[in-house]
Amino acid sequence: MAFRSLVILTGAGISAESGVPTFRASDGLWCGHRVEAVATPEGYAADPALVQDFYNQRRRQLAEVQPNAAHRALANLAARWKGDFLLVTQNVDDLHDRAHRDTPPASGFELIHMHGDLLKARCTRSGVVSDWSGDMAADQASPHHPQGVMRPHIVWFGEMPLAMERIERALWDCDLFVAIGTSGAVYPAAGFVQTANAAGARTVEINLEPTAGRHLFDEGVYGPATQAVPAFFGALKT
Ligand code: APR
Repeated sequence: MAFRSLVILTGAGISAESGVPTFRASDGLWCGHRVEAVATPEGYAADPALVQDFYNQRRRQLAEVQPNAAHRALANLAARWKGDFLLVTQNVDDLHDRAHRDTPPASGFELIHMHGDLLKARCTRSGVVSDWSGDMAADQASPHHPQGVMRPHIVWFGEMPLAMERIERALWDCDLFVAIGTSGAVYPAAGFVQTANAAGARTVEINLEPTAGRHLFDEGVYGPATQAVPAFFGALKT
């Protein structure tokens, strides 16, 4: 059966083999930093310099990493997919963006960073989002508002993920939903599979190992993303 409407959700696991740390592994980001201190609006209000330094370090690290075979496999898929293809990433790195720049997608493709983007900043007063590749100071003046300062365009805990209406529509319309490299620990992303199931889509989990939500998927494919993702999509009829 050829699928016509695809939604793929990715998490930190797809970037792990590029050298970008995941969150909940033993050497993950949340083991070296207090989430409340660096990934909440309260943490930012309490110590903006600490939060800006946390994201400055992660932004600088992007220069040292490259898209891997899993990112490239999804870019190759997007180039040949004939229907709708929404790629929703929880990741704030730009590895999907770079892979799709190198291999331009067909017209039905869209990439959404639902948790924001390390290479963008947002004015705290106007809400205007602009590209930002360098470091950001705690009191970084905003070019968009005289009283505004620039903050990372990252969705912190307690904030609403981006483009949720667009994502929900695509989930209700899809006939194939694939979650790649995500633990399913954080909502609303962790609930996407249930919407896809309710929509009658085939649902697949691709991960290093089965996650706690394995039972919610029709199928599980396990192994490193750089092997499992090219293998799964290489065999998919498009
Ligand atoms: N190949 C495939 N999967 C992998 C690999 C790999 N090489 N390495 C790790 N994984 C899997 C792990 O088994 C785990 O299921 O990737 C998943 C990473 O899970 P998390 O660290 O919880 O990351 P993620 O699911 O993306 O977290 C979701 O939580 O803290 C927030 O905003 C943050 O976007 C993040 C969200």
